[in-house]
Amino acid sequence: MKVSIDVLDAIRAADIHGTHLTLTGPRMGPRLYSRVNEVLEAVGGRWTKSEQAHVFPIDADTVLAPVLESGEVVTLREKRQNSQYFPTPSPVVERLIDLAALRPGMRVLEPSAGSGAIADALRAAGAECECIERDPGYAAMLTDGGHAVRAADFLAVPPAAEFDRVVMNPPFTRGADIQHVEHAIRFLKPDGLLVSVMSWAVTDHTRQTAKFRALVEARGGSVEAVPRRAFAESGTDIDTVLVTIPAARDADVKPVVWPSREVPGAEQELRPPVEIFAEVKAAMAAAVAELDALGALLAEPLTSADTPSVELPTPQTEQLSFLDLNGDAA
Ligand SMILES: C[S@@+](CC[C@H](N)C(=O)[O-])C[C@H]1O[C@@H](n2cnc3c(N)ncnc32)[C@H](O)[C@@H]1O
Repeated sequence: MKVSIDVLDAIRAADIHGTHLTLTGPRMGPRLYSRVNEVLEAVGGRWTKSEQAHVFPIDADTVLAPVLESGEVVTLREKRQNSQYFPTPSPVVERLIDLAALRPGMRVLEPSAGSGAIADALRAAGAECECIERDPGYAAMLTDGGHAVRAADFLAVPPAAEFDRVVMNPPFTRGADIQHVEHAIRFLKPDGLLVSVMSWAVTDHTRQTAKFRALVEARGGSVEAVPRRAFAESGTDIDTVLVTIPAARDADVKPVVWPSREVPGAEQELRPPVEIFAEVKAAMAAAVAELDALGALLAEPLTSADTPSVELPTPQTEQLSFLDLNGDAA
């Protein structure tokens, strides 16, 4: 949204000390105040009566500088419509909480917490939830909701193996979900567990997913399909999976079964043999890349946050069954 000159002038004239901003000058009319407040809220400011100031989760100058320079701001209303923010609908949150097998008092990290759909459920389940959120506007909403929150870029937060669980629904753009989950694993205690919503794309055999799939295999994780259109109420039709990854591999875990999905009508289509050949060749190349990545992972020196011993999956003859969100075996 373009910010009008009178609003920019009012913000420029404000007194700013660290996280506190005090509007100065003659008392504003309610309409101007409401437009100024909308901009301050968009970047994380909250009118706090006890402080007689707008209080920000991080330095107010830092978050206001781009607004004052560009004369533009993305309001909370606009952010909700922005494709990067897809709050997790409650049936998916419930399944995440089931998979996380929480016990009261567990320390749980939600590293891309948005406005708190998952964090609220973690707290209701008795967990000690700690949130990270890059967007100061959402970070302030989490603070409003009584959550412990750090307004930061999660990928820049140095890992510390302190959490019993990580439960998350990160951004997906250009493989960001893989990047976030790989970073998040490093925050788990040695007996910890990570559960994440991820794009269906992680189930594809591609060079981009090879290392990640190898990691899930090496740790004995699990992957289950989320019902189609589960995120429709959040404004997206993207297909997703729930991925569970333990910090350490149990000796008796079963091999990972990756979900697959029929494309309706695809079986009736006659495809040119050359296309099928190219697809088989690409799948074989991706499988080799996956094996290479698994080999490289197994050869890596162990760090304190990693599994003490990583074994290859035990060959298994029986087929694992996966429960979908309705509890039906798929
Ligand atoms: C798909 S939304 C999910 C929000 C919340 N986890 C939920 O499930 O309702 C992704 C969230 O990640 C935040 N985000 C994106 N990149 C981030 C980063 N590098 N560090 C922390 N948060 C980030 C976005 O602002 C957005 O709120």
